[in-house]
Amino acid sequence: MDELEACGHEVSTKRELGIKGFSDGMSYNAVRPDYPGEAMAFFASTFGLDGTVRALDLGAGSGIFTRQIRDLVGEVVAVDPSASMREAFAASTPDVEILEGSDIAIPLDDESVDVVFVAQAFHWFDVPAALEEIRRVLRPGGGLGLIWNERDESVPWVRALSLAMQWDRWQPYRVGRDFSGLLCAGPFRDVERVTFRHAQLLTKESLYQRVLTTSYISVMSETERTALMRDVAKVVEPLETARCCIWRFALETRSGGEYDFLACPRLSSLATPS
Ligand SMILES: C[S@@+](CC[C@H](N)C(=O)[O-])C[C@H]1O[C@@H](n2cnc3c(N)ncnc32)[C@H](O)[C@@H]1O
Repeated sequence: MDELEACGHEVSTKRELGIKGFSDGMSYNAVRPDYPGEAMAFFASTFGLDGTVRALDLGAGSGIFTRQIRDLVGEVVAVDPSASMREAFAASTPDVEILEGSDIAIPLDDESVDVVFVAQAFHWFDVPAALEEIRRVLRPGGGLGLIWNERDESVPWVRALSLAMQWDRWQPYRVGRDFSGLLCAGPFRDVERVTFRHAQLLTKESLYQRVLTTSYISVMSETERTALMRDVAKVVEPLETARCCIWRFALETRSGGEYDFLACPRLSSLATPS
């Protein structure tokens, strides 16, 4: 999905979609999942996180990951290109500074952070330029931790939901994609990939909201979005219980050499109706 001209959307490139596709930060903050405690513990031990560490959360959005990492480090600074996400961040995470910036324009000095984290955003980045920019702000021996939540498409209704959401057509990345090759081609090495399970319970209402926070859906024309949501309802309404969704997670980790670590979770998914 490098060109989006067929999208009928208000954006024309994937990069623009990544920056403009998150225009309702408050809604995003309310319905998107957090990250598994095990993954946070993994990050803590892999990167030796403690009160001396200064971390950057790049593509921090509304602060879901930031609020989990802040207690594991001495200081965290957040960066995001979306004004709406930064507004939601400031409202929900007032004790952490959020700056305007992006993968290729991080508003921090050279060698000024020990670890860079990217939660659910690396697929928007302009690699390899982004990896060079991340390397610039990292102190020697610093690390990069990446994490995703992904849908578990082995669950039939979750697969059906993905199809109704037209994920196959507009996906910014393939669920389960291994980014190791990209990482190894840059200034990082010793990549490690780890998977954890995670779950998020959603009501039907919040599941609809979660679907609407999907980047390419949020920039669709009203007509297209209404048609898509009708298809989504055909999957969601027959689910028997209000508490119908569980997200499972996978985390992927890379660690390595001079900049000795990348932790990339990758996610699993929405799971079973209970
Ligand atoms: C799916 S959200 C993830 C937000 C947050 N990290 C979380 O875990 O909830 C993706 C975020 O990446 C940001 N983003 C998109 N393109 C970006 C880029 N080129 N550089 C940095 N951040 C970007 C978006 O503004 C959005 O806040």
